[in-house]
Amino acid sequence: MTTALQQEIEKRRTFAIISHPDAGKTTLTEKLLLYGQAIHMAGSVRSRRNQRAATSDWMAMEQERGISITSTVLQFPYKGYTVNLLDTPGHQDFSEDTYRTLMATDSAMMVLDAAKGVEAQTRKLFEVCRQRGIPIFTFINKMDRPALDALDLLDEVENVLGMQPVPMNWPIGDGKKFMGVYDRLGDKVYLYDRTVHNQTMSPEYVTTINDPRIKERLGDVEYEDLMLNIGLMDELAAFDHDKLMSGEQTAVYFGSALTNFGVQLFLDDFIQYAPSPGMYPSDAGDIDPMSENFSGFIFKIQANMNPRHRDSVAFLRICSGRFERNINVNHSPSGKSMRLSRPYKFFADSREVVDEAYAGDIIGLPGNRYFGIGDTLAVGAAFNFAPIPSFAPEHFGRLLNMDISKQKQFLKGLTQLVAEGAMQLFHETDAARRDPILAVVGVLQFEVVQARLETEYRVKTKLDMLPHRLACWVTGDEADIELLPWRYALLRVVDANGRLVALFNSEHELTYYQNKYPDITFSRTG
Ligand code: G4P
Repeated sequence: MTTALQQEIEKRRTFAIISHPDAGKTTLTEKLLLYGQAIHMAGSVRSRRNQRAATSDWMAMEQERGISITSTVLQFPYKGYTVNLLDTPGHQDFSEDTYRTLMATDSAMMVLDAAKGVEAQTRKLFEVCRQRGIPIFTFINKMDRPALDALDLLDEVENVLGMQPVPMNWPIGDGKKFMGVYDRLGDKVYLYDRTVHNQTMSPEYVTTINDPRIKERLGDVEYEDLMLNIGLMDELAAFDHDKLMSGEQTAVYFGSALTNFGVQLFLDDFIQYAPSPGMYPSDAGDIDPMSENFSGFIFKIQANMNPRHRDSVAFLRICSGRFERNINVNHSPSGKSMRLSRPYKFFADSREVVDEAYAGDIIGLPGNRYFGIGDTLAVGAAFNFAPIPSFAPEHFGRLLNMDISKQKQFLKGLTQLVAEGAMQLFHETDAARRDPILAVVGVLQFEVVQARLETEYRVKTKLDMLPHRLACWVTGDEADIELLPWRYALLRVVDANGRLVALFNSEHELTYYQNKYPDITFSRTG
């Protein structure tokens, strides 16, 4: 017999969109909200050209800063399901935040630009999803523009990402002629009309491949080509749900987020085939989402989300059970018992205090200084979820405080940003150089740190980029370590816990020192 708890959890669909910048992630997010009826007019999420107010003060802040610094968590109901969409920051660069968000999802939607195929950042994000073993759906976007050949795009997914692509539908035309898709399982054609500024849902016509409008629009040659491709689809891999779940296959959809073509078909399939919340590993074994006991882990901390309240919000992924407001939980790192009295939930256009939530949902917990990334909160016996992997920093820069009278704020800001996991901080052991060294995964994180220090702590800073590319903890005999030729190119620093770290210019140099000093151990800090 399924309990009310099981029913709620089985209806949860928690996912993130992964893509290369400009592939259309923001546009697709917005159209999913439109089709989820969480917004009534597209254009509100981005608020470009002053169409409507931003959907939350948090988004407004992102817009003010001109850079997307947060991962958005949005929830909307759809056809009896509760959909949680974790939006990963989609700028040129990426940060640990993006990676961590992927630790809190059950599946991913990969958005590709039909004219570009698989791009660099998609690959990196894909790797993280693959390591977690979560199912990946593929949306090939921008079919309303001249696109690469559909078969070539499928080949690319197969060759570059090593997954078997299974086309769930086939595009009818591309560029100006893109009129809809052929649905493979249903053997039906979905034709669409555009709406004014694509702001509302596109009217849809369900028909067959023999509909004369198709031939008329495509012309004889393209129509024949289409028929040939559709005939050939039988020879392509057939959809196998188990293989989708294991990451062996990806279900592929063609469409245009801008014009809304194919978005609903995609969403309908997604809720049907995407997994409900799964097991999460911990030091007490795998945690079953259906367990009666509430548990979850913090995957993100964001300070000063609301400039008026200067609050810091910890985002928690619920991994098991039911959450109730005022619940008492154990916070495993501190051993403290605490009551969660002011939890937030995020909807498309607002955040509000939540009274109950279930495994798969994300809640925001404001104003708790004890929380850190990776912390476990649970009812009952304390345990720890498997640690969130940290990623090796690849960029380093010395941060100078330009106004020494603001030193206190400077240090406070840095402490907060480190707690949020925005960067790692090192200090040189040479007493003459006290300026901290920031270590980040993507260079844009430097800008974010500097912008936040300026807007939130009123401290102007200057960054001197360093040429180093990797950081390693150094352990071994003290005398051996002293023999290392410490100098600018092999910078000697300590981390926040006082552990000795060496910064290297390249992989090549690290190998050189490893070979030359075999008694010293160099281990990556990330
Ligand atoms: P991102 O979040 O992945 O970075 O991409 P975003 O949605 O911001 O889209 C990047 C650009 O691509 C935007 O154009 C957007 O309108 C366009 N775009 C997204 N989906 C489609 C699609 O299906 N078809 C076409 N033709 N274009 C699409 P922009 O010029 O940068 O912005 P805007 O001024 O059009 O808003």
